[in-house]
Amino acid sequence: MNLLIMGLPGAGKGTQAAKIVGKFDVVHISTGDMFRAAMANQTEMGLLAKSYIDKGDLVPDEVTNGIVKERLAQDDIKGKGFLLDGYPRTIEQAYALDDTLKNLGIQLEGVINIDIDPTKLVERLSGRIIHRETGETFHKVFNPPAEGYDEKDYYQREDDKPESVKRRLEVNIAQGQPIIDHYRAANLVHDIEGDQDIEVVFADIEKVLSKLQ
Ligand code: AP5
Ligand code: MG
Repeated sequence: MNLLIMGLPGAGKGTQAAKIVGKFDVVHISTGDMFRAAMANQTEMGLLAKSYIDKGDLVPDEVTNGIVKERLAQDDIKGKGFLLDGYPRTIEQAYALDDTLKNLGIQLEGVINIDIDPTKLVERLSGRIIHRETGETFHKVFNPPAEGYDEKDYYQREDDKPESVKRRLEVNIAQGQPIIDHYRAANLVHDIEGDQDIEVVFADIEKVLSKLQ
C-alpha cells in the first residue's frame, strides 16, 4: 500500500505509524525523523534543518522535496509500499509528490487524516517523552512507559518547548487545508477521529486499511 498519514503536530501520526508498520509491513518515511537523524549526525542538511525546526518553522520545500524524492526511489518502496508521515506539508510539496510518484510509476492509494481539535495538542506535545535507546514515543500521562520508569532514559524534543509548539501549530494550521482539499478532490482521504484512546484510533485506521489492502 502507498499511503500518507496527515494531522497537526501531536495528532498522533508517529504513534499510529509505528502501529501501522507493525501490522501492514509498509515502509515508514517520516521527514521529521529524517531531519532529526541528520541533525544528530550534524550533516550540512541537518544543520540547515535545525535552524528552521528549533523555531517551529518549515524546512524549505526544495530541501524536503529532495530527500523524499531520493527515499521513494529506493528499492524497498516498490516491493512494500510506503507510509509518508509529515509530508507533504505545503501545497507545493503535494504537487512535487504528485510528480515524483508519477515519474516512479507509483499510485497513491490512501490518505489517513487524523482529525483533532488543536486545543488538545499543547498538552500532548509538552508531555511527550522519547526512549533514548529505542526511539519509541510515550506520553507522561496519556501513554506512560512501564511503572517506575527512569526519567533519565527518556528525552523531550527541542521543538516541544512552548514557543516552538505555538509556531508549529500556527504554521501547520495555515498550510494544511489546501493539501487536504487536494486529496479530497482525488477521493483519497479517510478521516479518523484523533481524540480517542491510542488503541481506538488504531482500530479505526485498521478498518480503513483492511479495505484498501
Ligand atoms: P515532525 O517530526 O513531523 O513533527 P510534527 O508534524 O510537528 O508532528 P509530531 O511528530 O510532533 O506529532 P505526531 O503527530 O507524530 O504525534 P505523536 O504520535 O508523536 O516534524 C518536525 C519538524 O520538522 C517540523 O516542525 C518542520 O520544521 C520539519 N519538517 C518535517 N517535515 C517537514 C516537511 N514536510 N516540510 C518542511 N518541514 C518539515 O504523539 C504526540 C504525543 O501524544 C505523544 O506523547 C503520544 O504518546 C501522545 N499521543 C498520541 N496519540 C494519542 C492519543 N490518541 N491520545 C493521547 N495521547 C496520544
Ligand atoms: Mg511525529
